[in-house]
Amino acid sequence: MAQVEKRATILVVDDEHGVRQSFYMVLKDEFTVLLAGSGKEAIDIFSKNAVDLILLDILLPDIDGIDLLERLKEMDPNTEIVMVTAVKEIQTAVKAIKLGAYEYIIKPFVVDEVITVIRRALEKYSLVKEVTYLRHELERRQPFEEMVGVHENMKDIFELISTVSQSNGTVLIQGESGTGKELVARAIHRLSSRKDHPFVVISCAAIPATLMESEIFGHNKGAFTGAVSTVMGKLEIAHRGIVFLDDIDSLDNNMQGKLLRVIQEKEFERLGSTKVIKVDVRFIAASNKDLEERISKGEFREDLFYRLNVLPMKLPPLRERRDDVPLLLNHFLELHSKGGSIPAKRFSQEAINILMKYDWPGNVRELENLVERLCTLCKEPVIQLKDIPMFTMTRTEIKDLPLREAVKSFEKQYVGAVLESVNWNRTRAAEILGVHRNTLAAKLHDLGLKM
Ligand SMILES: Nc1ncnc2c1ncn2[C@@H]1O[C@H](COP(=O)(O)OP(=O)(O)OP(=O)(O)O)[C@@H](O)[C@H]1O
Ligand SMILES: [Mg+2]
Repeated sequence: MAQVEKRATILVVDDEHGVRQSFYMVLKDEFTVLLAGSGKEAIDIFSKNAVDLILLDILLPDIDGIDLLERLKEMDPNTEIVMVTAVKEIQTAVKAIKLGAYEYIIKPFVVDEVITVIRRALEKYSLVKEVTYLRHELERRQPFEEMVGVHENMKDIFELISTVSQSNGTVLIQGESGTGKELVARAIHRLSSRKDHPFVVISCAAIPATLMESEIFGHNKGAFTGAVSTVMGKLEIAHRGIVFLDDIDSLDNNMQGKLLRVIQEKEFERLGSTKVIKVDVRFIAASNKDLEERISKGEFREDLFYRLNVLPMKLPPLRERRDDVPLLLNHFLELHSKGGSIPAKRFSQEAINILMKYDWPGNVRELENLVERLCTLCKEPVIQLKDIPMFTMTRTEIKDLPLREAVKSFEKQYVGAVLESVNWNRTRAAEILGVHRNTLAAKLHDLGLKM
């Protein structure tokens, strides 16, 4: 679906009717233009509308231009302000730049110059937004992009991803923990027309309820104790992109209601502000809980569920698609040995057989973690049955193992886990295990644990 480019909104503040009108004529074709004849009117309009840039006359009858600049910047530091000044006021204009104005233009203005300055200023605004977004993305551990699967269920999922990515409807992805919900959401984003715009994650379970509202909607300086500066919310950052509402079931009833409103109206206000901000975002929600059951218990709003469930996707647990296990094992072996000092490895057939029978309660994530651990723990190029942790085995499989092998296997897993937990600090590990450092060193050698 083609996207309509949102026009930037410019507020022109000038007490001279003639000047306002000439700006209006020059700008109206490219921008949405709002006009204010006084400082008071400017504040009023600015507090109620989403404005991307302000053209501000330095000499106003009611408020000093510099004071007004400071007030407007305080209301929203992200809006760029260009001062409009007469030649004799240039000193003041320079002061304004120091206080955060983007640029000044001199009256009588040259049309081309005005347009160029405005375009540059608006570009800066979108760059700031992008930097905020990139910073937020960097803080998250990036999952691997590639999705693998050969099971029929997964083929259906791949097909669904490509269909769904071409529409603009809200998606609800349900599936047990570790089945790949976030990976699917990112794949939809990558394949959609929104791919060049942000994919913003809101982790509903990770953020305390008290901070949730500000996380989603942002807040103005002074909106609550501790709000020392104005902060853009995730919805604003995601403009024209996708908002991924992870663990949506964790939202409390109050936030569920607020979110429903945003999904319906695509507009909201920052905390501590009455200004309506319009956004163009697509929502993808995910949950590992049974939402229908939550609805019947009165814990999840039915109206929100139907709003989200426009395009439903259910990811099957790994135990229902065991054919994918060998493929995933090799996929992660390759990923974890790539680029590192670890030489390429493979699994023995026996080891694969055991892992195909295991139920994987943590699904693909559990499998990925196990492969990563085996990559660090195993010295030899082939990962054997004895390297596989015993918890993955059934009683019959365990019976086949001689006691000496079983003890060694357990020791290896246990010592390995302790070492991992202390970042491979041998002294700390020896303390925890209650053995001398030299004993630990010998043990590591004996178990074939690499350091
Ligand atoms: N089909 C797949 N192919 C390759 N990697 C996968 C696949 N499914 C999941 N993964 C990987 O498994 C890990 C877990 O996936 P993801 O974070 O998407 O799960 P989730 O369903 O969001 O889990 P949770 O409910 O715990 O948040 C990620 O590292 C992801 O890259
Ligand atoms: Mg997830």
